[in-house]
Amino acid sequence: MALPETMRVVEITKPGSADVLQSATMPLPSPRHGEVLIKLAYAGVNRPDALQRAGMYDPPEGASPLPGLEGAGTIAAIGSGVFGVSVGDEVCALLPGGGYAEYVRTPAAHCLSVPSGLSMAQAAALPETFFTVYSNVVMRGGLKAGERFLAHGGSSGIGTTAIQLANTMGARVFTTAGSDEKCAACVKLGAERAINYRDVDFVDVLKAEGGADLILDMVGGDYLPRNVRALANDGRLVQIAFLQGPKVELNFAQVMMRRLTITGSTLRPQSDLAKARIAEELKRNVWPMIEAGRIAPVMDSEFALEDAAKAHAHMESSAHIGKIVLKV
Ligand SMILES: NC(=O)c1ccc[n+]([C@@H]2O[C@H](COP(=O)([O-])OP(=O)(O)OC[C@H]3O[C@@H](n4cnc5c(N)ncnc54)[C@H](OP(=O)(O)O)[C@@H]3O)[C@@H](O)[C@H]2O)c1
Repeated sequence: MALPETMRVVEITKPGSADVLQSATMPLPSPRHGEVLIKLAYAGVNRPDALQRAGMYDPPEGASPLPGLEGAGTIAAIGSGVFGVSVGDEVCALLPGGGYAEYVRTPAAHCLSVPSGLSMAQAAALPETFFTVYSNVVMRGGLKAGERFLAHGGSSGIGTTAIQLANTMGARVFTTAGSDEKCAACVKLGAERAINYRDVDFVDVLKAEGGADLILDMVGGDYLPRNVRALANDGRLVQIAFLQGPKVELNFAQVMMRRLTITGSTLRPQSDLAKARIAEELKRNVWPMIEAGRIAPVMDSEFALEDAAKAHAHMESSAHIGKIVLKV
């Protein structure tokens, strides 16, 4: 494949609100040992991109300064030490950064096939949320069939994925969202009960059911003590973000008396090997469910790459249900 020397990108010109995202031209990256270069068709937009844009989530050492943690496209070049993939293969991939661009490099082990039946736009919306949800809900949280699972932010990219995955695994799914319309969408995806958190206290709902065995939370703030109250004995809380802040007063006697586990993780700083292990699990356990039509990404909207600022403003308005993608 003949490669150009430069590519269209969207860069963060300075830390700030959505309009600091501007189009630019940059040299093509070249794949390093173990990496492939992907010509992107679509890139996914995620909340961590907005945090990076605002100057609150720096890229790890060696990663592209451009935002963009996932995408789908065609392999355009292959670095040394890469086996089992060819130029021209269609893939979706978790990216260390750099997804708001025509070309991006990423470890070959972080690429997955485009599931049969899915478009490139849908495939681009998979990696960041599926790596995050599977590793936190299944690998870290240990969700089992029959358990009561509470996913906060049910209409988010993360939430729509968590509801479907947990439902397919046979868990009883409870979720929170900020409007009746969002709650209805969550029930359609398989939630047994979607709680409009503006009207109803999720703690009361979960306690009436015997408590949650597992909670996936991105809200933090006063949700931390409330999550502890909502957990069943031996319950687990997995924290993946703190939209309302990480500092609270918490009575840890509850954790001891009721044998609770509080844990959490962020995906991006983990080692390439840890991410490759998650990719292997997804390939084995989740991609077949997607190919069988049992789980599908919930697509909210599509913007042109050059309109990334509009895509961020839309995400930050919280009007969306599911995933936003950029057409490259
Ligand atoms: N740890 C990791 O590795 C990792 C990886 C990816 C993403 N994340 C985090 O996961 C979160 C979701 O990411 P995303 O890309 O899916 O973003 P997103 O679609 O923008 O989701 C944010 C969601 O938070 C919900 N929310 C805000 N306040 C809430 C509250 N008090 N109760 C319940 N829900 C509330 C919003 O829903 P309403 O409009 O209904 O309030 C919105 O759906 C983000 O915080 C992101 O930083 C973490």
